[in-house]
Amino acid sequence: MQQKSVVTFKIQSMDSLGQGVSKESDKITFIPKTLPDETGMAEIHAAKKGVQFGSLKSLSTTSPHRINPLCEHFQHCPSCHYLHTSYEEELRFKTKNLEKLFHKLEHPEIQVTPAARRLGYRNRLQLHYDLRSKKLGMLDPKDHKIAPIPHCLIANSRVSEEMKRLYDNQTWTELIDRTSPDRGHIEIYDHDGEVKVSVNRPYAQGGFTQVFEEMNQLMKEKLQHWSKTFPSSDLLDLFAGNGNLSQDLNHSRRLCIDFYPAKVQDPFLSQDLYAHDALSKVLSHLRQIPLRPTSLVVDPPRSGLKNLSEWLEQLRPLDVAYVSCDPHTLVRDLIPLKNYSISDIHLFDFFPSTFHFETVVFLKRN
Ligand SMILES: C[S@@+](CC[C@H](N)C(=O)[O-])C[C@H]1O[C@@H](n2cnc3c(N)ncnc32)[C@H](O)[C@@H]1O
Repeated sequence: MQQKSVVTFKIQSMDSLGQGVSKESDKITFIPKTLPDETGMAEIHAAKKGVQFGSLKSLSTTSPHRINPLCEHFQHCPSCHYLHTSYEEELRFKTKNLEKLFHKLEHPEIQVTPAARRLGYRNRLQLHYDLRSKKLGMLDPKDHKIAPIPHCLIANSRVSEEMKRLYDNQTWTELIDRTSPDRGHIEIYDHDGEVKVSVNRPYAQGGFTQVFEEMNQLMKEKLQHWSKTFPSSDLLDLFAGNGNLSQDLNHSRRLCIDFYPAKVQDPFLSQDLYAHDALSKVLSHLRQIPLRPTSLVVDPPRSGLKNLSEWLEQLRPLDVAYVSCDPHTLVRDLIPLKNYSISDIHLFDFFPSTFHFETVVFLKRN
């Protein structure tokens, strides 16, 4: 069996995936669960073109910001990235990384809304199973191993209760019928206080909902404040889900568009917004209604909306709110914009303990 190589490291910074970054001689090494100024040894599990990926083996210098993680699964679970430090440090890393990504764009100072709490918030969790090894837990993308997390601390109390039930005596195995594959996923989701479980269904069964309800309310308040300046606009909500973000915004008329049919009272259009003819289809639908959007809300999945500039040049809204769960694709989509300036940027910490967060950018037509 080939032995894994072990290297020494000194962490200089944290990357946007919550990993410590060590630059030693000609190699950059990314090591999760480390902190700036820490030194030690890491085991390398992948390497390519001057970059290598390791896991922490031992520490010889420990950061003064290191704390004992509250969660017993933290060392092995790939889902949380910051429980080995304080929440203040976590938020500082997130803000710094967002500032770094935005350095190419002219923008005002980033406003930060910390998480209402660091743990016990997720109303939805997707777990992976393997019937052969009888494991249920988080899937590690680096080696596809499953890390069992029966006492996960980021789940809300109702989801935690259900997890406990599923892990007890491996009750989860009873949910997998004979036609199911040996490896698959189970989703536990809390909809209006009722917890449901789905097996091998697409993500967000029961309709997309934001995973942290209090943060969702805070973000909606910010959007409402924004919409006060245009009391009677025609509003278009792209990637609208059930219309969550735009339902309380000022508008005279509204159109919500999403791929999946949803329960919204206003006119709703079911459309694949990544289809090559999506923009022309939406434009022709708007002409039929007719509706001329002067304000636009865009809240795409992580892949963003690559041709946002085309959408804006065709629709020409005066005010745009771009809500993003991936700042990399957000910045990619903003860079080509010609006739818009950023009036506000907000970081909403919807996913504390992990490297994820939501960013809201308000744009104004020049
Ligand atoms: C980040 S969620 C936002 C949902 C909504 N704005 C909210 O706050 O609840 C992204 C939405 O994009 C939708 N979506 C995913 N792929 C899509 C596609 N190809 N075309 C249109 N909508 C899509 C999903 O159904 C989901 O509702």
